[in-house]
Order: sequence, then C-alpha cells, then structure tokens
Amino acid sequence: MSTDGVDSKKRRFLLTAATSVVGGAGTVAALVPFVKSMNPSARAEAAGAPVEVDVSKMKPGEQVTVEWRGKPVWIIRRTEQNISDLPGMNDRLADPNSQVDQQPEYAQNISRSIKPEYVVLVGICTHLGCSPTYRPDMAPADLGPEWKGGFFCPCHGSRFDLAGRVYKGVPAPTNLVVPPYHFMSESKILVGVDKGAA
Ligand code: FES
Repeated sequence: MSTDGVDSKKRRFLLTAATSVVGGAGTVAALVPFVKSMNPSARAEAAGAPVEVDVSKMKPGEQVTVEWRGKPVWIIRRTEQNISDLPGMNDRLADPNSQVDQQPEYAQNISRSIKPEYVVLVGICTHLGCSPTYRPDMAPADLGPEWKGGFFCPCHGSRFDLAGRVYKGVPAPTNLVVPPYHFMSESKILVGVDKGAA
C-alpha cells in the first residue's frame, strides 16, 4: 500500500484494464510497438502528441479508450436518453455547472462537451487516481434505482454521471477532467489540442 492510501499495484492494474477492455483499444495497441522503436526524444515527443480517434463506427452507449500523455482518455457516445437525463442529475451533484476549472471553456456546459453526443474525459478519478469503471446500465442492483449511467470508482466508491460530474458526498472532490480536443471532421476527434492550436 502506498502512502496515499491506494495500492499502487491495484492502480496499475486498473489503468491497464481500462485501456484494454474496451473497443478502440487498437489505437493504443498500435501505438505501443511504434513508440518502443523510437529514440528517447522522439518517444517523449510522441508520448505528448495528440491522438486522433475515429468515432464513425461507435454505436450509442459505446466507450472507446485511447492513451494520451500516459493517461486513459475515454470517448463515450451517449444515447439520446443519456443526454436528456443530464439536467435531472443536477441535485445529486457537487458541481453540476462545472464551476471548478476541470475543463476547457467549450466544455463548460451541461454535457461538458462540444457535441452532446460525444463526451471526452480523462479516465482518472479525481480522488486518488484510480480508473473508474464505465457503468452505462440503468438502476443496477449495486448502484441503486436512481443510477442513470455513469462511472463508478472501485477504490473508494466515488460516483460520476455520464458527463463526468461528481456526485455529492463521495471522496472525489471534483468532476473528471475534460482534456483539450476538437472535431477534425464529423467522424474524427483529435484529443490533446484545442481547435486552431494544432
Ligand atoms: S481513487 Fe478514491 S474514489 Fe477513486
């Protein structure tokens, strides 16, 4: 157990699981051998490079995870139901209007995204850094009848809604981070840079 209260092996395992379980992990798998073959400075540059994600084949409700700057970044294609459920969540959330600076300005809205259909989030809990689990299921027995989909952190039980907004009364102090990103086209997202900064 490390001094911050989280078993570091567990954390590593969770991060690995998050980047390998979901669809779109091909992007990560393809990146690793490529990065390994580079010299150290090229490797450092690639590690911070923006990541292009093709969302054209994502179905509503699906999650894709890519790696950006050594962190898992999730792209979720929300369903129409998910989008319409967001305003009704506000009373249960600590920062429903994203007042805390955890997102670019263009994501400081109810869906915390550029297009409500797609949310882009850094998949690291704002408590002690575990990787929460995507739980799109409605009212599952373990999360209760009010659960309308979101993210559950198995380390200490923090909960986030499908915009990455943190619930009240959980250990995580803030919403999940929205990284800089923009749409290069209807079907491609570039994670890591704002529009115009590429
Ligand atoms: S790391 Fe503690 S609740 Fe997520």
